[in-house]
Amino acid sequence: MKNIVLVGFMGTGKSAAGRLVAQRLKRPFVDLDRWIEKKAGRAVAQIFADSQEAGFRKLEQEAVEEVAPKPGQVIAAGGGVLLDEENVKRLKANGILVCLTATTEVILKRTLATLPHRPLLQGPRPQERIEELLALRAPSYALADLTIDTSGLTVKEVAEEIVKKAGEKHE
Ligand code: S3P
Repeated sequence: MKNIVLVGFMGTGKSAAGRLVAQRLKRPFVDLDRWIEKKAGRAVAQIFADSQEAGFRKLEQEAVEEVAPKPGQVIAAGGGVLLDEENVKRLKANGILVCLTATTEVILKRTLATLPHRPLLQGPRPQERIEELLALRAPSYALADLTIDTSGLTVKEVAEEIVKKAGEKHE
């Protein structure tokens, strides 16, 4: 059974929806950032502070290498996971990639409370930073097998859409 892999920008609801999808489908749920934190013994923000983005990406790559081959999981990946070609190959080899999207305004609203824990959104103008990163990442998010706009949806509705659309892909 293929994995269902949730990708997409910060604040699009990957972890919350992923947990629900896993419950509904009775599959194991893996949140890749939490997996990395457990293995590294440090929070993501601390990893960025200690070893910059490159250090985090290396740990992320190792996490994908280890987690992706196991079948039947629901995986919520970090927003930058598809920037690495090897990660894309490994996740696609054994999974359906579902990209969650949202408007810049919704992303800003959803990430505001957790902004201090988001190293890539630091600086005086987070909205501009989000827009800049979204534009840079558009080509990698386009590699997903299907896309769901979560802007006007509740977590439950997002989970239902994922179950429905990923199920259709399985057929
Ligand atoms: C990142 C997103 C974060 C986390 C790290 C880098 C990114 O995960 O992996 O801060 O590059 O977009 P979430 O998308 O789960 O917040």
